[in-house]
Amino acid sequence: MTADKVLVHFNQLFCPIDPGHPLRGAEMKEGQILTDAYIAIKDGKILEVGSGEPRADLIGKDTELCSYKGKVATPGLIDCHTHLVYGGSREHEFAKKLAGVSYLDILAQGGGILSTVRATREASFDTLYQKSKRLLDYMLRHGVTTVEAKSGYGLDWETEKRQLEVVAQLDKDHSIDLISTFMAAHAIPPEYKGRSQEYLDEIVEKMLPLVKEEELAEFCDIFCEKGVFTADESRYLLSKAKEMGFKLRIHADEIESIGGVDVAAELETVSAEHLMVATDEGIEKMSQAHVIGNLLPATTFSLMEDTYAPALKMLDKGMAITLSTDSNPGSCPTANLQFVMQLGCFMLRLTPIEILNAVTINAAYSVAREKTIGNFDSGKQADITIFDAENLDYPFYFFATNLVSQVYKNGQLVVENG
Ligand code: NIG
Ligand code: FE
Repeated sequence: MTADKVLVHFNQLFCPIDPGHPLRGAEMKEGQILTDAYIAIKDGKILEVGSGEPRADLIGKDTELCSYKGKVATPGLIDCHTHLVYGGSREHEFAKKLAGVSYLDILAQGGGILSTVRATREASFDTLYQKSKRLLDYMLRHGVTTVEAKSGYGLDWETEKRQLEVVAQLDKDHSIDLISTFMAAHAIPPEYKGRSQEYLDEIVEKMLPLVKEEELAEFCDIFCEKGVFTADESRYLLSKAKEMGFKLRIHADEIESIGGVDVAAELETVSAEHLMVATDEGIEKMSQAHVIGNLLPATTFSLMEDTYAPALKMLDKGMAITLSTDSNPGSCPTANLQFVMQLGCFMLRLTPIEILNAVTINAAYSVAREKTIGNFDSGKQADITIFDAENLDYPFYFFATNLVSQVYKNGQLVVENG
């Protein structure tokens, strides 16, 4: 079969393997690295990848050939944890943060997430759309082709719905594919102060059925944290969401370890996110239940903490790991997944191959898109991230600089000279 396009002569091409489940523990060290590699594309999908000169029958008279000598490529990067849609920003809290006021104290004083809730409630659909689009543009230029996006800055149906609708519209309009997560349980709204169970009932009885009916989100998430939602409350909400057919994620063990990980293991959530202060016992439970550990080291960095998630311990215990930005206006204002990948090396001590697996095939599993993205198996979407680097170690070594030079989405060049 002839290809529409063949990208040839990559110095190296990283091809994650897919054993039919997310790569766990030592499996994360695996992956094929092709040299002098080519990628043949047909109808926006991967036809085949290989080394050396592409086979003659791939090249027809209309086949476009592009040389990427001196560059390396990976499957399109997947950012599987973002709080993409929000009003305002929080640089006014920066001075407090520098003075040592903790993230949870700022929240308890009515700032933090609640400050963004006020700004998001006031923002129109168009304002939220334009702000989120700008973030997606940054992400795309940094090599990201798929993004998970959570609601959770409305904490009332009207605003939560507006956030979800922005995600749905951007999924249609933007090159980046979006996966929507409903997270009205991100904080206790001021109107419900001291009445968190009543708020959860409102989510369960009113909001979740509407989200399902209008197909506005695939996943449900909750912030299980001291001063926010307890483990029992998280168990209650997530088990109701599970009964209604939602896939589950949970923010757990971010700042204090209060049992979110037990809930993740019991309900077999797809992933548990953050895990900065995960315990040995928690890691064991997640490993047994095959919960993916989604680690967000730029959040630790931005919170100015030194409690980086115990990634090596997780691998040692056979867990699957993903890495993502947590892009949000408070605990992690960045859109740069490459920086997160570099922190994965510098602070979590993961290897470049483990990290590349984390943000491709494992991240595809974590957003339930393993059938269509995450590696270069034939028939998958031709989502490709190309780095201005001679080998796959270089983008980790040469840090804090955007090394992505081109991005293909569904076989189309969407970033050139990034
Ligand atoms: O993942 N932890 C809860 N939610 C976000 C922070 C959101 C915010 O501060 O606006 C997080 O870190
Ligand atoms: Fe988060």
